[in-house]
Amino acid sequence: MAVLEILKYPDPRLKEIALEVEVFDAALQSFIADLEQTMRAGPGGVGIAAPQVGRLQRIVIVDVSSKPKIKQHGRLVLINPEILEWEGMAKGREGCMSVPDFTGNVIRAKTIKLRAQDEQGEFHDYDMEGFEARAVQHEIDHLDGLLFLDRLVSRRNDLFARKVYK
Ligand code: NI
Repeated sequence: MAVLEILKYPDPRLKEIALEVEVFDAALQSFIADLEQTMRAGPGGVGIAAPQVGRLQRIVIVDVSSKPKIKQHGRLVLINPEILEWEGMAKGREGCMSVPDFTGNVIRAKTIKLRAQDEQGEFHDYDMEGFEARAVQHEIDHLDGLLFLDRLVSRRNDLFARKVYK
């Protein structure tokens, strides 16, 4: 396993649209292991998307289990994820390993119905809410070339500099 290099804004590769995964083989499993190790090596890493390490495939890992008091599914590998339904809107603070110097307030759906494949290509449906739903929406944005910076309502009021990534 290896910790991979995280691309940082404004790297143009972060603006690309990732392709569907069609082959679920050993090479994919090996990449997922590296991607997960990279997420866990980063500060505050509750999610990561393959394009953040320069691989343009629709692969996301989310694990918000470090926040035990919220409703969540634990470690999830989400391949070709698709939001089937969403409801509500909420503003919340987000950070990103590709944007280490800032956090920002972003409006996201409160609840989502998600369909995604796992490492073996099996389909699963998930009902998600709150912080987990926010994390998944943030990571799916990476698959479509979007950063939280692209979703700020106001650059003046919703973008915050930070000295130390927590
Ligand atoms: Ni991010």
